[in-house]
Amino acid sequence: MSGRFLVLEGIDGCGKTTQLDYLAQWLPTSGLMPRESILHITREPGGTSLGEAIRNLLLHPPGANWPEPTTELLLYAADRAQHVSQLIIPALEKGDWVLSDRFSGSTLAYQGFGRNLDVTIIEQLEEIATSGITPDLTLFLDIPIEESIGRRASMVDDRIEAEGHAFLSRVAMGFSFLATKREWVSINANQQPEMVSEMLKDELVNFFASKKDQCA
Ligand code: TMP
Repeated sequence: MSGRFLVLEGIDGCGKTTQLDYLAQWLPTSGLMPRESILHITREPGGTSLGEAIRNLLLHPPGANWPEPTTELLLYAADRAQHVSQLIIPALEKGDWVLSDRFSGSTLAYQGFGRNLDVTIIEQLEEIATSGITPDLTLFLDIPIEESIGRRASMVDDRIEAEGHAFLSRVAMGFSFLATKREWVSINANQQPEMVSEMLKDELVNFFASKKDQCA
């Protein structure tokens, strides 16, 4: 597949949405993308219309219909399977670029480390849901959990955000572990958004320059 697949990961409140908006503006004019490629900005859960419905069930379940941990895991996997086959693979096959707000790393961090579900099963589900597609580059926006809690203090929590401090620290530990294991690029996101954007830009430029060197 000739397209490129980029992912932003991190705990709630790490600034992904702000940085995604920045990259959506910058990438198409950066000179990194082939002129004929389109940039698709997407997210998990919710990158497709079925995925939007799944997102609502996961984050704002109606009434007392809270999913059990295994149901939650399967719903995130179902969202991903739909996202990969309807949006990501077709875009990459056309040579387009995809930038996703979260991908399978989030399931390992939240459902694996946060909920203590079996990591081997999560990895098997990942293989099924992604059809073996992996990001070219995952950018991990790293912030301390106190910063995450502080930034979200005036906002209404969704069901996952409402899990509290102990859950969030297990998720944060999961992200740190994955960042090393899966060779993600870690960015210190505990600073002004403009600084974080500059660092992301530099990392992307360096990453694609090194790819070019490898191909030369
Ligand atoms: P967002 O608000 O950053 O879009 O993410 C939605 C929430 O869903 C966030 O709290 C993280 C959580 N989540 C999981 O628990 N597992 C997953 O696989 C994904 C993609 C998100």
